[in-house]
Amino acid sequence: MTVILVIGTQWGDEGKGKVVDYYSKNADYVVRYQGGANAGHTIKVRDEVYKLHLTPSGVIQGKTGIIANGVVVDPEILFNEIDELTKRGIKPKLLISDRANIIMPYHKILDGAEEQYLGDKKIGTTKRGIGPCYSDKVARNGIRAIDLTDIESLQRLLDRILPLKQKLIDIYGIKTTLDKKEILETYSAYGRRLKDYVIPTHIELNKAIKKKKNILLEGAQGTMLDVEFGTYPYTTSSHTIAGGSTIGAGIGPRMIDEIIGIVKAYTTRVGEGPLPTELLDKTGEHLQKVGHEIGTTTSRPRRCGWLDLVVVRHSCMISGITKLAITKLDILKGLPEIKVCTSYSLNGNKIDYFPARIEDVAACKPVYKTFKGWTTMDTSPALFSDLPKEAQVYLRFIEKETDVPISLVSIGPGRTETIEI
Ligand code: GDP
Ligand code: IMO
Ligand code: MG
Repeated sequence: MTVILVIGTQWGDEGKGKVVDYYSKNADYVVRYQGGANAGHTIKVRDEVYKLHLTPSGVIQGKTGIIANGVVVDPEILFNEIDELTKRGIKPKLLISDRANIIMPYHKILDGAEEQYLGDKKIGTTKRGIGPCYSDKVARNGIRAIDLTDIESLQRLLDRILPLKQKLIDIYGIKTTLDKKEILETYSAYGRRLKDYVIPTHIELNKAIKKKKNILLEGAQGTMLDVEFGTYPYTTSSHTIAGGSTIGAGIGPRMIDEIIGIVKAYTTRVGEGPLPTELLDKTGEHLQKVGHEIGTTTSRPRRCGWLDLVVVRHSCMISGITKLAITKLDILKGLPEIKVCTSYSLNGNKIDYFPARIEDVAACKPVYKTFKGWTTMDTSPALFSDLPKEAQVYLRFIEKETDVPISLVSIGPGRTETIEI
């Protein structure tokens, strides 16, 4: 039995879909435990490409997917995803936590309204209602999956919550009237469909652990979007670090055997907020273009820059990462030289940690170590030693700097373009 946790170490989009799909072959359950449809996880199997926002990536390999209590679920997006997958010949096996909070229409309206209010200080959210939904959960105004399955409790909750939300919408100057009857009808219909999936998933998972089943926990976003340890306030609203998985899935921390941190071989970010190694030059454009760095959820171009090891070390420390999976190494091919940020210069002082003040993060100048690039690369290397010598030097440097061994190298989006070490 193993419980493996896979998380992103940067600003999301590290290739979690690809890596989770790869490791799913040995899993019985694949679990999403935080975030919501702000995530966009891509899985490529031969010529088929799947982009999943809520469904755990393991369903593509036919494994049981669990959407656990820590996820915020948009039923409309979820059911569209289930229907789309079913049409494509994959009927997902899914279980959804009775405790998962539901994204309501006013969450999406308020996400947009808050961003509009912030103007040029906006977060650049995905406008999927994530922040407002997590805020309601913590403020104890949330509506959970179990509530949708019982029309009377849904009605009581709407009676209490909707007038407050309407006031907020009015304050923001948004011309929308929340229609209680319509919301009740739509969401109780979702509830009827949800009944087929809703269970206490934490009980199912803990029983599975007792039965020595293999469990793969699939993180969304990445450390630098963590609400506690990311580039706050330019973060998402959930705990994307390893600690978020035990709360979000309802399993004890000691149950986790391995914590795999995914590191894209360079850095990307979608949305606003500082990015110390951002390249606003031809190299940045090259990475964006060759790496097809377009947001999976919002289709916004991703900002690109060199690999930042201050970020990856921060991630390894906060989450106790035991192994690294390096992705998109192939994208660096053809660059004459490759830089890696090893520390920052902040107001003339060298620092090797990630500062808390967002103004300090913005003022950090990366200190780089330069590596020789490589011009050719085998498209299907079987072993680490098949990689170009310069790439091996680059990877060994990452291991040395983070003090964490690399267990997987990805050199293409497909399942087979993977080297296990
Ligand atoms: P996630 O959110 O972490 O699952 O990542 P996304 O799916 O949003 O973005 C990663 C993108 O890179 C997807 O289009 C993947 O198909 C692609 N990808 C993943 N690994 C590799 C790789 O090693 N090489 C290349 N070229 N593409 C990759
Ligand atoms: P995956 O799982 C990249 C970013 C948004 C924005 C900030 C807050 O595919 O890696 P939110 O809608 O969560 O309130 O937006 O977080 N963001 C992501 N960036 N990948 C993601 O998910 C993201 N999910 C949210 O762009 O900057
Ligand atoms: Mg993504």
